Amino acid sequence: MSTILNFLSNDHRACDDLFASAESAAAQQNWHSARALFDQFQTAMSHHLSMEETVLFPAFEARIGNSMGPTQVMRMEHEQIRGLMQSMAGAVDANDKDAYLGLSETLNMLMQQHNMKEENMLYPMSDQVLSSDRDSVILAMQAIA
Ligand SMILES: [Fe+2]
Ligand SMILES: [Fe+2]
Repeated sequence: MSTILNFLSNDHRACDDLFASAESAAAQQNWHSARALFDQFQTAMSHHLSMEETVLFPAFEARIGNSMGPTQVMRMEHEQIRGLMQSMAGAVDANDKDAYLGLSETLNMLMQQHNMKEENMLYPMSDQVLSSDRDSVILAMQAIA
């Protein structure tokens, strides 16, 4: 089976691809396709955040006996990501290219910094501290609807 690092990093890439496709459709003011691609991105990203919040973070916190560490910062950033996605949905609904592109630039920066912290720190730490439970943690994440 995969590592937590591989499994979740691959999912970051899949979300990034949808994000980039939605952004280029919005830049071309192809709103029909921008709406569909943005919806796919938002669904994929929300799923990713909930795999982390409902499976990975609690497992990590239980193992290190602390919920105020790195996962607390990640949870706060997830809320910022959700807020930006909500504003972007409004910009797509309004067919507002400037608003969409401004928000997507902000989200992209936040998302890349967030993902880098996870991929460089939290996921490798998780693979270490959860080593004996790694497969079951990945299976539990795959089972999240
Ligand atoms: Fe995250
Ligand atoms: Fe993540």
